[in-house]
Amino acid sequence: MNGVRVLAPAKINWTLEVLGRREDGYHELRSILQTIGLCDTVTIKPAGEVKVAFSGRVEGLDGLGGNLVQAAYRVATGVFNRADAVSIEVIKRIPAAGGLGGGSSDAAAVLRGLNALWGPVDRWRLREAAAELGSDVPFFIECGTVMVAGRGEELTILPEAPRKHLVLALARDETPAKTARMFAALQPQDFLDGAQSLALMLRFNHRLEYDDGHLCNSFERAGYTQLPHLAKTRDLLHGCGKEAHLAGAGPTLFAIFDEEGDAETCASGLRVQGVDAISVRTLASIEALRVEAIQADG
Ligand code: C5P
Repeated sequence: MNGVRVLAPAKINWTLEVLGRREDGYHELRSILQTIGLCDTVTIKPAGEVKVAFSGRVEGLDGLGGNLVQAAYRVATGVFNRADAVSIEVIKRIPAAGGLGGGSSDAAAVLRGLNALWGPVDRWRLREAAAELGSDVPFFIECGTVMVAGRGEELTILPEAPRKHLVLALARDETPAKTARMFAALQPQDFLDGAQSLALMLRFNHRLEYDDGHLCNSFERAGYTQLPHLAKTRDLLHGCGKEAHLAGAGPTLFAIFDEEGDAETCASGLRVQGVDAISVRTLASIEALRVEAIQADG
């Protein structure tokens, strides 16, 4: 195999419960995460020197995304005990700083891609390496539907959530929502006890349907205070007759649909009103983890 192409899917949080502050400065979480069919593509090929390049939707990408991809390469050289030079090309489709996990997913995709080229090592080792890169990165080693605990690195893999279509609506013109700032804005009344995540985990384990009433996000209050454009986008989603949920700790909202056609109608209606909206579906881990072998010039 000369090179590999892997997907780096975005995520939403079905639940995102912050339990409280920890002594190490992080927050204790219970959250159910889900990969969705909005994906960056990461291509890794042998090269004369180590190179990282981004193309596509690069607006708002500060150094952070690139640094995380480079950091993933560095961590991988330790995991695989190899340091062959590669070029890493990332085609961005996931908006930066949207709370959709784009940077973390790119970093995990680099680890998965290098695992295909240089490995394999077992999944635990990859997850451990991912945890060095960020709290959300271990999830993207597995993808699909996963409950996370701790600061995000303790994973319980769940059966795939019954497929849904989602409308994602990005609240435009925000100053980038820094994750650390969102955590810092939490007040004691925003802390939850993890019960909603456990209840939804049971539903998924029993392959039961789910709806708006099963979802929650500790950042709702802080989000609407910190991100002034969020409320307007929420009201436009309400206009589609839908509840709006915060996708993570950033300025993206989502609404759930059973039918693809209804999601597309809602998304195109929002676009007419100037909202950056798309319709996507939930993405199972088997789809997200596909690795495509490519020739060096492919
Ligand atoms: O782990 P990561 O680098 O992605 O986290 C970014 C920031 O988000 C941390 O510096 C911290 O302020 C906050 N965070 C947190 N608790 C978590 C995850 C992230 O407080 N469980």
